[in-house]
Amino acid sequence: MSARSPLALAFAFAFAFAWIASSVPSLLVGHHGPHNQNAQTLAAQFRERAPDPRVTSAQCAPCHEAQVRDWRGSLHARAWTDGVFLAAYREEPMAFCRGCHAPLGDAANEPDAIARSEGVSCVSCHAESLAHLASPRSAPATREAHRGAHASRALCAGCHQFDFVVDRGPTRPLWHSPTPMQDTVHEWERASRHLRATTGDARDCVQCHLPSGSHAVRGVEQRAFLQRAVAVTVRACRLGSEWNVRATLRATDEVGHAVPTGDLHRQLRLVVVNAQGIERARVFSRTFERRLEVDDRGESFFSRVQRFDGRLAPPGPESEDTASIQLPCAGERRPLWRVEHWRTDPEIARRQGLHQREVMTVVHQGEALSCNAP
Ligand code: HEC
Ligand code: HEC
Ligand code: HEC
Ligand code: HEC
Ligand code: HEC
Repeated sequence: MSARSPLALAFAFAFAFAWIASSVPSLLVGHHGPHNQNAQTLAAQFRERAPDPRVTSAQCAPCHEAQVRDWRGSLHARAWTDGVFLAAYREEPMAFCRGCHAPLGDAANEPDAIARSEGVSCVSCHAESLAHLASPRSAPATREAHRGAHASRALCAGCHQFDFVVDRGPTRPLWHSPTPMQDTVHEWERASRHLRATTGDARDCVQCHLPSGSHAVRGVEQRAFLQRAVAVTVRACRLGSEWNVRATLRATDEVGHAVPTGDLHRQLRLVVVNAQGIERARVFSRTFERRLEVDDRGESFFSRVQRFDGRLAPPGPESEDTASIQLPCAGERRPLWRVEHWRTDPEIARRQGLHQREVMTVVHQGEALSCNAP
């Protein structure tokens, strides 16, 4: 922690109230999570006094250098600038997206430079820190609030659990579909019921993703983290001129939800390859379809509903899945296999001009066991 400048603090103080007042309506666009209540109360308290710009990570940096550095490298900091997000946003540039991917901006407009470069910034998770910017000595009180509700999934739920919406123009409210666009918190509830019953220990989001207060939030960019989420066994039996490949995939107790979770287009793919390089794949993902809806005024429009959830279910009795795949065989060595994690559907990636290395990670790979191996 470095020395504090009173001038910088006075500045930060002014920014704090402005951010709260200007961003709460935009935050509410995409959220129905409980954590916004805190921001709302603060907003009501401070709205009168609001002058101009907003609180950024730069204002926390003098005293919390490590958190700022770690957070910079995370996808939270890059929630707007990340190429996979931007490619999708270009196809569907809704105000709705901005509320979560650039929460420091005014969701009604394209985000400005600050909102773009800050992404999901410190104040998105630490609304309570605004009070202590004004008076860092209030930190112990802050810490109480922080260790309680704030350090729990409620904080994450506002952005990590939400339904599809349909934007029907500026004069109509957003229409909320009953289908979750992301269902991570519900999945976690299923997993934790199981883990509490079997191991007596169910970790929450923060314990796995920000362990020991680390802000280098762990996720798809850390291969080792993906690896421990999935256990795989693959066997191949020869049946005449075919390999009969049988694979078992399971979400381990090291994950707290379905695999993959999060964005709707995430996929796992099991790919098997014979000696001639012939490949077959099985995809583990959610699939959706369009449905015609009619509202209370008799106006019709299309919404998106889930047709099938083919991902690995959260840890529990259903977390194991098997795949049976046939491959041509000419008497050579057993097939090779790999499990790939895709941040978006390969077809979508192609259409959006994303390179495979930006969106795909090989999680596990190997050679199939013989079918009677233990
Ligand atoms: C002038 C220095 C200063 C600035 C600027 C500052 N903080 Fe703090 N912060 C502190 C001090 C001092 C503590 C108490 C630390 C301790 O006792 O370990 C603290 C504690 C915290 C805690 C609670 C830590 C815990 O132990 O639970 C959070 C969260 C936090 N600050 C976030 C922020 C954020 C976010 C910003 C920027 C918006 C910020 N702070 C700006 C000095 C500062
Ligand atoms: C995605 C939400 C999120 C964001 C964004 C975030 N934090 Fe945190 N922060 C947390 C959580 C959760 C904890 C509590 C971790 C724990 O209890 O182990 C925490 C803990 C802290 C602490 C206390 C650390 C400790 O060791 O006790 C400080 C200080 C802090 N954050 C500052 C910041 C600053 C500065 C930023 C911006 C660079 C930031 N945070 C961004 C969620 C977030
Ligand atoms: C027991 C540890 C554990 C718990 C608890 C947990 N996660 Fe995860 N999480 C993981 C692992 C491991 C992965 C990597 C595998 C995957 O993508 O599903 C992951 C992946 C993710 C991803 C996807 C990363 C990406 O970019 O695709 C998100 C988002 C996420 N978790 C959010 C959460 C939230 C929110 C909670 C709490 C409701 C939570 N996690 C609880 C371990 C955990
Ligand atoms: C203000 C909204 C917001 C809040 C609050 C929030 N997140 Fe996120 N989170 C996001 C967005 C947006 C992304 C996706 C960034 C991207 O890839 O474009 C993300 C990404 C992630 C990822 C994937 C990171 C990776 O590298 O793959 C994990 C894990 C995650 N968040 C966990 C959490 C946890 C745990 C909490 C609660 C402590 C939390 N988030 C709170 C909006 C939020
Ligand atoms: C309620 C908050 C919320 C809203 C609204 C939202 N997102 Fe996200 N988005 C997230 C979170 C949280 C993640 C991280 C999940 C994960 O890592 O799998 C994410 C991840 C993504 C990703 C994956 C990025 C990556 O780094 O791989 C894309 C693409 C994306 N969102 C596009 C959009 C678009 C386009 C919109 C608007 C149509 C939108 N999102 C609206 C919260 C939101």
